[in-house]
Amino acid sequence: MYNILKLNEISPVADKAFTANYAVTKDCKTPVGIMLRSFSMHDYALPESVLAVARAGAGTNNIPVDKYAAKGVVVFNTPGANANAVKELTLCGLLLASRQIAEGIEWTKTLKGKGAEVGKAVETGKNNFVGPEITGKKLGVVGLGAIGAQVANAAVDLGMTVYGYDPFLSIDAAWSINNGVVKETDLNNIYRECDYISLHVPLTDKTRNLIDSEAVAKMKPGAALLNFSRGELVNNKDILKALAADKLGRYVTDFPADELIGAKGVICIPHLGASTPEAEDNCAYMAAKQLVDYIENGNITNSVNFPSCSLPRTGKCRITVAHLNIKSMLVQMTDAISGAKINISNMLSKSQGEYSYAMFELDDDANDTVIGKLNAIKDILRIRVIR
Ligand SMILES: NC(=O)c1ccc[n+]([C@@H]2O[C@H](COP(=O)([O-])OP(=O)(O)OC[C@H]3O[C@@H](n4cnc5c(N)ncnc54)[C@H](O)[C@@H]3O)[C@@H](O)[C@H]2O)c1
Repeated sequence: MYNILKLNEISPVADKAFTANYAVTKDCKTPVGIMLRSFSMHDYALPESVLAVARAGAGTNNIPVDKYAAKGVVVFNTPGANANAVKELTLCGLLLASRQIAEGIEWTKTLKGKGAEVGKAVETGKNNFVGPEITGKKLGVVGLGAIGAQVANAAVDLGMTVYGYDPFLSIDAAWSINNGVVKETDLNNIYRECDYISLHVPLTDKTRNLIDSEAVAKMKPGAALLNFSRGELVNNKDILKALAADKLGRYVTDFPADELIGAKGVICIPHLGASTPEAEDNCAYMAAKQLVDYIENGNITNSVNFPSCSLPRTGKCRITVAHLNIKSMLVQMTDAISGAKINISNMLSKSQGEYSYAMFELDDDANDTVIGKLNAIKDILRIRVIR
């Protein structure tokens, strides 16, 4: 029986990933796996029994990932599980940026109490809220990862001309992008060409303030900026100046800040990007599946502190080793296994930053000799024997 501890309420959809061999509870003292959402683990006494921690969500700043890596504890997250939710809200943002919907809704509230006059007032007043269609317009998508790729594809389907910019595009993302998306290698061309620009990059030191007065100066007059990624990607002061000068037409953001609320041309949404029941379900299920695959097979998918590493189960026994990323570790480990007269039928070793992970598929069961020899190697963080 494998014990799983939940440190937060997790969508019951996660239970579909656990077979009868799992006991998933909120108060277990010796869990092999932990699932959580926002619980802060920074002051948490991690039980020695824990092999892995799975966060149902993308961010992991509530988890001491490096400290856990040093103990050989794998931390998983669920990138992309909320991509559809954010894509849908971005599409809503495109329409809000073009059609004066938010202003029209606000104005309609002022008609309350006008009785039979409402219909007539609407027909007269609606002329103040005319806005263009998005079909045929140009959209620039900056960042073509899980969310950006879906936004780009959906916009192509809506009849937009879509330019995508992502100098670090992953192969997986590249496969998922509609071939109607124009690949742009110069961000300046996106600024110059596009009627709408949508940001889908992570916040890093390089992307902070990506959109400032210099970037806005290169944009088409009246262009709309959409930010469903992170508030700090945009310099709010510069944006407000550009909106006041009618250089920028709109700023639709999922990240309200005091200076943005009520400002001309700004539409603030209260960080609703991933707030759908489906996104929560997807995150929970994905986190649980990854945890189960690690517990049962030692495979790592979507870890934030160890490299992705998966092998099919073909041998009698599997040994996995989490270790420091140091020269000649692999040769020491293979020597230890073959020195115990056990044949390695398949193996995989990957590194990510300071940490590495190796998987050995063995033709025979791992005996005490081999475990002893492996344990004697310095800089190994954790050894598991999976039968
Ligand atoms: N509004 C919300 O509630 C919400 C929810 C989830 C995610 N997000 C935000 O959306 C962002 C994107 O999420 P995702 O799941 O698509 O992430 P992702 O990692 O799948 O994609 C990010 C993409 O940005 C690219 N990139 C990195 N730096 C770049 C740069 N300087 N220029 C162009 N491209 C660059 C990467 O190559 C990658 O393809 C997240 O980082 C997060 O900040 C917001």
